[in-house]
Amino acid sequence: MIYPPQAISDQSYDAIVIATLISHESLLKQLIDLGVDKDKINFDYVIFPVKARVMFLEKLAVTFNEKRIEGCVAEGGVFQGDFAREINRVFPDKTLYLFDTFTGFDQRDIAKERSSGFSQYEEGHLNTTSEEIVRGRLLYPNKAIIKKGFFPQTAQGIDERFCFVNLDFDLHDPILAGLEFFYPRMVTGGAILVHDYFNPGYRGVKVAVDSFAKESNVTPTPIGDGISVVIYR
Ligand SMILES: C[S@@+](CC[C@H](N)C(=O)[O-])C[C@H]1O[C@@H](n2cnc3c(N)ncnc32)[C@H](O)[C@@H]1O
Repeated sequence: MIYPPQAISDQSYDAIVIATLISHESLLKQLIDLGVDKDKINFDYVIFPVKARVMFLEKLAVTFNEKRIEGCVAEGGVFQGDFAREINRVFPDKTLYLFDTFTGFDQRDIAKERSSGFSQYEEGHLNTTSEEIVRGRLLYPNKAIIKKGFFPQTAQGIDERFCFVNLDFDLHDPILAGLEFFYPRMVTGGAILVHDYFNPGYRGVKVAVDSFAKESNVTPTPIGDGISVVIYR
């Protein structure tokens, strides 16, 4: 049976399993607003990919530190800083570049998403954040350089080498621009992680990665979280 959310109060159940990463936080809020006991809400299915990705990052940092791999770290698409915090935590000595509009999706990217049928998100989606929120979440905020605005414009003039980059822009154009900007600037052995490659909600990400991979003769490799791929230099 499929019930509307409001019918939950009439049902008896042992647990409610949230099985979609997309909008999982608003689903949680909706359930709590409907009076569901938080202890009965099971998040394992969506939390596993998050934990697996953090574990990948932690072990990558161990390897990079052992091999003394130099270079800055970066994230493209920061939102409220969940993963930026992890990058900053595991690479406390490295300069961390953070790129985001901090006003959500930009009209220039959205127009392409819609005309290509990749996604149907609105301009301004994911705008509930700020530089201050992100900086406040970092363990070593003095290591962060925040580049607010439209990527790739915000990358202009950056003359650095990178060892780790997380691309999490969700959309085709900034993902492709991110690969084109960062890949030539990666140190040997450096890693670009791309989130949402296997996410059917953001189809443009896979299209962007696949076209870059073909052009550059690189192989995107799944990392075991069910959603991301890594490209090594
Ligand atoms: C899914 S969120 C990032 C999530 C984040 N990595 C985390 O760990 O929670 C995607 C972010 O990409 C940003 N974004 C999308 N296109 C962009 C562009 N062209 N330039 C700058 N930021 C962009 C959005 O503003 C949004 O904050």
